[in-house]
Parts: sequence; structure tokens; C-alpha cells
Amino acid sequence: MTLPDFGEVPPADVLQTALQQKGCFLLREILPLPLLQAAKAELEAHYAEADQAWQSGQMTQSAYHKLFQYGHLPFEEGLLPLAEHSEGEANLYTCLLGIDSLKPFLSAVLGPSLFLIEKNSQPRRQHPFWPERQIPFHQDAEFLGGRPALNFWIPLDSCGRNAPGLELWLRPQNRVWFELNLDPLTPLYQQRDVSAIQAQASRDQFWQPEMEPGDLLVFDAYLFHRTWLTESMFLPRYSLEIRLTHPAYAPGLKGREWVL
Ligand SMILES: [Fe+2]
Repeated sequence: MTLPDFGEVPPADVLQTALQQKGCFLLREILPLPLLQAAKAELEAHYAEADQAWQSGQMTQSAYHKLFQYGHLPFEEGLLPLAEHSEGEANLYTCLLGIDSLKPFLSAVLGPSLFLIEKNSQPRRQHPFWPERQIPFHQDAEFLGGRPALNFWIPLDSCGRNAPGLELWLRPQNRVWFELNLDPLTPLYQQRDVSAIQAQASRDQFWQPEMEPGDLLVFDAYLFHRTWLTESMFLPRYSLEIRLTHPAYAPGLKGREWVL
């Protein structure tokens, strides 16, 4: 199977086809490394503070179970502080979303502007020694109210070999399969039976890309994906997840419109 893995940004129609046929595409070496390195250093400090807050009892149980349990920090504690060290939100988003060569694709899919869903834009940390925090097969649409959306998934570490990456099922879906109705006290991967889904797939439809800082993975909110974690991994992985939708789907969502 041809993988949607691009060393150079192809024309918008090629990316649209990849999104329609595979649900995702990976663009190599497209994001600015200094910004990503600064973001990683900043996040390590924020995560150390959050670890301390949790261990000392200052983080509420609900905050822990809602996000931190699975390695997320809320937008206000994760992405927003990054903006201050990248000369403001506008600059951060310009660096991460305003890539000139990607604009024809975004314009073709979303129109003249997009909506950045701040509530669902956050950093994530996954360590191989915390398998209970891995996220099983799911669709982002489960927690986006079924809205069409894109995930800009941005690795801040080399991942997929020595650090946890992502596994993607390269088959477009047109409905949400699971309801987000979870027990916060049981690890997610123990709550979800995905055998019926996996039974529909052939082995070569699953992709576990090795990614480096600078790469950008874009995937559809209906695409099934999960944490890719193997027993030989030994390094942690930090990443950013930035979720976008069409401004028409913005009502009721916390975020901002971004003109392309
Ligand atoms: Fe996800």
C-alpha cells in the first residue's frame, strides 16, 4: 500500500486525495525546529510543575482524571504559555498553521479561514513506562461532537521507534463507532473492545510512522488511531495536538478564528 508520507509538500489535490483515501498524511521536515525545541523545554517545566501538583495533592481528582491521567495539559497550561515564549499566539499559530505551502490545501478544505478549537488543542506526554496511560483506538470525533475536524499532530521528540508514536488505521470512516462514556478510574485501554474493528482490517492498513521533530501529521477526526507502544521503547515522547474545524462548526466551541 502506498503510504501518505511526503518529503515535500505536494499539490493541494494530492493532499485532499490522501485525506479522503487514507484519512491522513505526513509532511516531513516542515515545521521550524527552534520553535519546537523551545516548546519542548517549556513543556518539560510545565509537566514537572503538574507532576508536583499531583503528587502534593494540589491537583484535583477531576483535573487529574479528565486530562493529566492521559498526559494532557489543558490549553491554558500547555499551548497558551508556549505562545508567550514565541512572541505571542499569532506568531505561534503562524509558525504551526501558517505554512505557505500548506495554505492551498487548507483553503481547499476549509475555505478562507479556519477555527482553532482551543479546548481540544493541547500538549501530550507519553512515557513507555506508563502503559496504563496509552490511549486505545479511538476517533477524535468522539469528543468533538461528531464535527468534521483535522488534527495537526506535532512530535517534539523522535517517536515510533524508541519513544511511543501513533498507530493509524488508514481507512476512512464515516461514522463515530464508540460513545465517549468512560469510567475515569479504569485505564482507557482496558475499557474498550476494538476487536470488531480490527477484524475488518487487513494488516497492511495499519501504519506506525516513525516521526521526527519538524514533521507534521495531519489526520481526519474520524480516523481511528491509538498510542503506538512497544516493549522495546524506553524514551518519553512529547507532542502537540492542534485541532481545527470549519468556522461554521465553531458555535459552542472555545477557540479562535484564524484567517488563512
Ligand atoms: Fe486522538
